[in-house]
Amino acid sequence: MSEASPQPPRDQWGSRIGVILAVAGSAVGLGNFLRFPGQAAQNGGGAFMIPYFVALLVLGIPLCWAEWTMGRYGGRLGFNSAPGVYSAIWRNRFAKYFGAIAVLIPLVIYMYYVVIEAWCLGYALSYLSGSLMKGSDPAAYEEFFGNFVGAGEHGALLQPGNRSFLWLLGATFLLNFVLIYRGVNKGIETFCRFAMPLMVICALCVLVRVLTLGTPDPSKPDQSVIGGLGFMWNPDFQALSNPQTWLAASGQIFFSLSVGFGIIVNYASYLREDDDVVLSGLSASSMNEFFEVCLGGLITLPAAFIFLGTAVAGFGTFGLGFNALPNVFAAMPGGQFFGFLWFFMLFLAAVTSSVSMLQPAIAFFEEGLGLKRHASASILGLIAAIGAGFIVYFSKGLVALDTFDFWVGTGLIYLLAMIQAVMYGWIFGIDRGEEEAHRGAHIRIPRFVQFMLKYVTPLYLAVIFVAFCWQNV
Ligand code: PHE
Repeated sequence: MSEASPQPPRDQWGSRIGVILAVAGSAVGLGNFLRFPGQAAQNGGGAFMIPYFVALLVLGIPLCWAEWTMGRYGGRLGFNSAPGVYSAIWRNRFAKYFGAIAVLIPLVIYMYYVVIEAWCLGYALSYLSGSLMKGSDPAAYEEFFGNFVGAGEHGALLQPGNRSFLWLLGATFLLNFVLIYRGVNKGIETFCRFAMPLMVICALCVLVRVLTLGTPDPSKPDQSVIGGLGFMWNPDFQALSNPQTWLAASGQIFFSLSVGFGIIVNYASYLREDDDVVLSGLSASSMNEFFEVCLGGLITLPAAFIFLGTAVAGFGTFGLGFNALPNVFAAMPGGQFFGFLWFFMLFLAAVTSSVSMLQPAIAFFEEGLGLKRHASASILGLIAAIGAGFIVYFSKGLVALDTFDFWVGTGLIYLLAMIQAVMYGWIFGIDRGEEEAHRGAHIRIPRFVQFMLKYVTPLYLAVIFVAFCWQNV
């Protein structure tokens, strides 16, 4: 579309709280309740938490502000997609290619994320029908999970016995599609407004039960709530010398906050000129950390430790919660109801995230190819369905999924986060960034954060990355 032609009315957020909930909705998802405990378990529990908080402060929050600021700036100039926004900031022909990475990464993540989302729906329905109430036998839940996800051979999920999974996947796709089709305000915002509070209530109920479990099996005194909390919170300074732990922790911060993908750039581009980006960014990130550390961390990890013992590291990045939590529901009055509620909540949390993964591509199709929203949504639905189909077909247990998650969910995000830090700190410039960020802001970003974005964040990312490569070649 030429710049002189009249702009069509832009899709915009309905209210400030709506946009915060939508960004928090994107951030809070399977990453908080499944990936975080899974990563913490694989990386030594307490050993993970120090690099995790360092990454939150050095990478997560500063980059989140940078993305909100750049996004609203791009939106004001009429751009919504990452290629557009990046080109507005960096007038160089490479900018749009970097932007293309920001469209591609979330789309690829969507393709495996939606599979796990469908598992959540399947678990919720299995609780409704009672087929997941198997008493206090952790092995029975492991077996159920193995059958459910078609562990074993290629294409196992497509075998006749697993057809119901395809229905679940189809239904999940459909819901995502409807929300995307309706647009940011009517679809995404409305859905997040009701899903987020419901999630908090449900998670709090389950949290209380986990924290009052004590030592369910007296013959295993180590497997107690205290033991589980200790596993997560006792720092292990020795493990800090392992770059893998640092890489995983930073990757988790990006994945969890939805930072580093260009998603916030896109969401923030629908803001009005003087909407507060500083407070909104901080609120959405804090909400995410509350869900991750206080709910995801205190529910899934202690529960896993209590029922599965020190074997917690062996369940894959996303598998831990599915294996551990059914044991909690079996030990809970009204367990069937809470089991349903929990997995349904996970499903909602996942949907509010997965729609955000599609939104950047929609914006790109609209802006770059001049397609209308409904045509963009339809094409995208098709591409995503084919991609997810491949993943379902080729996944052999959880290995393919975890490998994918490592390369895209940690590796590529790393690269893009670095590009964005440089773009903000060196190309947009921290003085301009500071001025832009504070337009309409109710609180100020401390000055040192701007310096951190320029020097510390890119250097920190580079050092970990090099150390990791060094160790693995
Ligand atoms: N932040 C989401 C979660 O924690 C996942 C996500 C990844 C969302 C990438 C958007 C983009 O589950």
